[in-house]
Amino acid sequence: MRSLIDILDLSVREIDELIATATDIIENPDAYSRKCEGRKLATLFFEPSTRTRLSFEAAMYELGGHVLTVVGAGGSSVAKGESIADTARTVNCYADIIALRHPQEGAALVAAQHVPIPVINAGDGGHCHPTQTLADLLTIYREKGGFANLTVGVCGDLKYGRTVHSLIGALSRYEGVRFVMISPRELKVPGYVTAGLKEHQIPYTETDSLEGSIPDLDILYMTRIQRERFDDPALYDALKDTYVLTPEKLNLAKPDMCVMHPLPRVNEISTAIDSDPRACYFKQVKNGKYMRMALILKLLREPFDPREPRTLYHHLRCNNPRCVTRTEQELAPAFILTGPKDAPVYRCLYCEHRAR
Ligand code: NCD
Repeated sequence: MRSLIDILDLSVREIDELIATATDIIENPDAYSRKCEGRKLATLFFEPSTRTRLSFEAAMYELGGHVLTVVGAGGSSVAKGESIADTARTVNCYADIIALRHPQEGAALVAAQHVPIPVINAGDGGHCHPTQTLADLLTIYREKGGFANLTVGVCGDLKYGRTVHSLIGALSRYEGVRFVMISPRELKVPGYVTAGLKEHQIPYTETDSLEGSIPDLDILYMTRIQRERFDDPALYDALKDTYVLTPEKLNLAKPDMCVMHPLPRVNEISTAIDSDPRACYFKQVKNGKYMRMALILKLLREPFDPREPRTLYHHLRCNNPRCVTRTEQELAPAFILTGPKDAPVYRCLYCEHRAR
């Protein structure tokens, strides 16, 4: 069965098809109201969530299906020390499709390796969040008519911001897209994101100035500084108010720039901006439900896994303390070889961190 672990598991053509289905759902919701009759979605959320979980659940209900839910490790056998593999195998006995959010990076891939039903990554630590990207893509498509030639600013916690990692991956595949990455030095995008940009020669700049960058942007994607991912609370306190988008700063932007945010917002966008026509963050919330409906339909229909077999290397250990290989019972480390032939790099299959 086909799973969605990383946004790049979907081709550009498949993204186009999902956008077309979501658009049709928006226009003809009744035609979809029984498409998943008798099917069950399990939402397993081991990290806090409002939008992602509820939109998955609303999506399944609007397709006529049912939902089984686990919220928080404390409410399940995970609190007793059950592995991700065993949890997934158990849920496979009850549900037809799983949406999993978990703090360990690579958790959704581990789950998908152990069940014959589709697993959707609803956020794995600071790594990826492909279905938020689907919401973002539908929003950009509806606002801008397409993705080519956009200058996309991503601002805030680019180190732990899984939504940003997936969005950059998805948009990198369109002609003429360039990125402006706005963050404090301590929260720059991880190497596995910039490695992909370098490999495909996609232009990007890194800066700490929001005011200096905003006039050039077609999209400004704000993110929250994520307190829960910091090992050092003093560093969080020092960085938490670095960027606040105010009406004064928005005055410097193009008249049709889209302001996006995956939400939750803490204070990085002034509420005075909510009524500005450029504010798109609540549109993203709504679009997320339609794209998740389109995705559930697609994955439940597809009996194959088109993932190419890859050569795996098992002689290294992943140094990322948040990698699932550090906590999952008897999970062997696995690395893939990436990068150019003259400078190859081993990257962890699960969390993409580089072996050192
Ligand atoms: C984000 C997440 O959980 O990664 N929110 C979301 O899913 N819409 C962003 C965040 O938590 O800051």
